[in-house]
Formats: sequence, C-alpha cells, structure tokens
Amino acid sequence: MPAQTIKTIEDIVQDLKSKKEVHMVTVYADLRKLGKVEPITGKSAKEAWLREKNEVRLKTGTIIDEMLGGGLNVGSSMLLYGEFGSGKTEIAECMAVLCPDVVIYIDTEGSFRWSRIEQICKERGLDMEKMFDKIILYQPANWLEQMMLLETMPTPLEVGKIGLIIIDSLTKLFRGIEFAGRQELGIKQPMIREYPISLTTIAKSYGAAMIFTSQIYVKPAANPFLPDWANECVVGGASLQHQASYVVHLRRGQGIARIARLIDADDQPLAEKPFVITAAGVMDLPDTEKAADLIKKAEEYEAKQRTFLDEKKKHGKKTVPEVSEPAQSPAEIEQPAQSPAENSLLGEEENAS
Ligand code: GTP
Ligand code: MG
Repeated sequence: MPAQTIKTIEDIVQDLKSKKEVHMVTVYADLRKLGKVEPITGKSAKEAWLREKNEVRLKTGTIIDEMLGGGLNVGSSMLLYGEFGSGKTEIAECMAVLCPDVVIYIDTEGSFRWSRIEQICKERGLDMEKMFDKIILYQPANWLEQMMLLETMPTPLEVGKIGLIIIDSLTKLFRGIEFAGRQELGIKQPMIREYPISLTTIAKSYGAAMIFTSQIYVKPAANPFLPDWANECVVGGASLQHQASYVVHLRRGQGIARIARLIDADDQPLAEKPFVITAAGVMDLPDTEKAADLIKKAEEYEAKQRTFLDEKKKHGKKTVPEVSEPAQSPAEIEQPAQSPAENSLLGEEENAS
C-alpha cells in the first residue's frame, strides 16, 4: 500500500475551491495531524450549569429583563427589530451604559450619540467619564468595513473584559445600491446570515453577550385582518431570527410608550411587556392607573401564551395557533386624563426629547 500523504492546508483549500469530491472525515484527520484542530471534548454538564447560574446577566434596567430570564447572559444574543423610533437604539445604548464591562458598539446607522449617553448618565447619576473608557465605538461606512471588523475587533487581552458586543444595525449597510434587486440576494444574504454567527462565536470566546438590531419591512401580501405590526418582517429574513437566543419585536405605543414582544426564545415563554423612553433612556411605565392597565393587558397576553405552551407540551402539537390579540392592544388604549404628577413626568420627557 502506498504511504498516505498528509494534505497541507493549501491542498485542502485548493480541493474545496475546485469542488473536487472532498471527504470531510479525511480533511479533519489531516487537519488533526497538522495540529490545526483539537478533538472536541464533552463538557461537564454540572460545571456548565453552575457557571450559567452564577453568570452576571446584562440588563436593560426594565421589565424587559424579566422576559430574558433576568437579562442577557454570556454567549447569548438578542435580536431587536421594529419600526423607526420603536426603541432599538435606546435599548442598546442603555444596555451599553449599564454593562459593567467593556462594550464594543458597532453603529452602522450613525445614530449613536455621546450626548445621549451623557444625558442618560446625568439622569441616572452615573459617571460619564467611565463611559469613554468603557464603550469602544466603531462606525463602519460601508458593508466591507463592517465585514472587516470581524477580523480586527479588539480582544479582551488588549482592552480588558468585554461584556457586550452591539451592532446597530446589522443589515443597514447591506441595503445600499450595490445590493439593489433580487439578483444580488445570493451575494448579500449569506453575508447577513454569517455575520451574527461569526459575531456570536467571537462574543462566546470573549465571554460576552451580543445584541443585533434590524429594521423591518411590511409583508408584500399583508393580511388586512391583522394589526399592522403583525405584518412586519425583519430585514435579513427568518435566518436572522434563527441566530438569536432572544428575538424581540418592538413597536410604538402612544407618546413615550413602547411595547416589547418576545417572539422567540431559547429558554423563556413568549411574552409582551410595555416600557417607556424617557430622558433617562428606557424605563418601566410610571406607576399609575393607566400603566397598571397596560401591564394587565400584557400579562393577559403572557398568561394565554403560557397556557397554550403548556397545552402544546401536554398534547405534543406541532403547530402554533395564533394567540388572539387583546381586543385593544396596549398601544391603542386611550390615555385617561393624566394626574398633575403624571402630566409633569410625561410632559417634561416629551419636551426633553
Ligand atoms: P430607527 O433606528 O430609526 O429604526 O429607530 P430605533 O428603533 O432605533 O429608535 P430609537 O431607539 O432611536 O428611539 C427613538 C425614540 O426615542 C424617539 O421616539 C425619540 O423621541 C425617543 N427619545 C430619544 N431621546 C429621548 C428623550 O430624551 N426623551 C424621550 N422621552 N424620548 C426620547
Ligand atoms: Mg436606531
């Protein structure tokens, strides 16, 4: 028998490029002999469980954290999508401010403002100087610069413990003229799909969590019997939703009110929570009668989802029937006359924005 030769990396790359029949088991064996891969070892379940329990969870500082099981933990990712002004950037900025460790903030929209960070810090009595040390901002000008960031991102060895990686938004720079038309989908879609995968791999290796945002488009064949927001789809497609541990849809309510809806999660029941955007960033609804009503509606929705999921578990159903919306969605509830205290809270905030 002829002596077996070990293929070099260059040979393997050449084989893959020429689309020659490639046996991945042989490739893997060669890579091992070359010392390029380590055998995969099983993880101790108990060790992983204990680590998970003791992990610091990154917070929005609002009721939304409850939907995420207490916040974002290491290696988990959250996709935020929703219409303009629904609070994607606001949530990202607040989580950056509240993160105890270094934050890598990739702003592709040019919407990050240090003055807004300063305002949030001032309102919350936090030290702005710390933010300059903590938040490392990148503002790629085009998709190529965005792609290159995957290679050039700083490491914890260079900047200290990295707790959070944010990209706001992941898809904006792929909506330029160079990708116009369906014929370009085959080029841009794999890049959009791969980006969160690569970023999550980096985040995991750094011990960080990840947030990525995306805009929406309305389904061309929108169902007229559903509320507008139910016809909203995430730019980047369903594959983007599959990448995230938590998929959160945001929509606007009246005035400063917003609604966050957990569409999909690895480990939490689907839920819907109202919040507000104020000078201090994202906050819980003020404790008033009106707020109580909004929260009650959201809780009713959550209870329905829970009952449905329990039923599904019991009967092992495969399909998920639509949980009907409350007769009035929280966003549509008429605001009763406000008390002077509430008036000043809402009024001042509106004026401040
Ligand atoms: P796009 O990036 O345009 O898709 O929107 P987004 O979902 O990122 O919205 P963003 O998080 O930037 O939220 C914008 C909303 O926050 C707007 O309605 C602003 O009026 C509101 N906002 C920003 N600053 C303040 C403020 O100081 N006080 C209040 N009350 N609202 C503010
Ligand atoms: Mg934004």
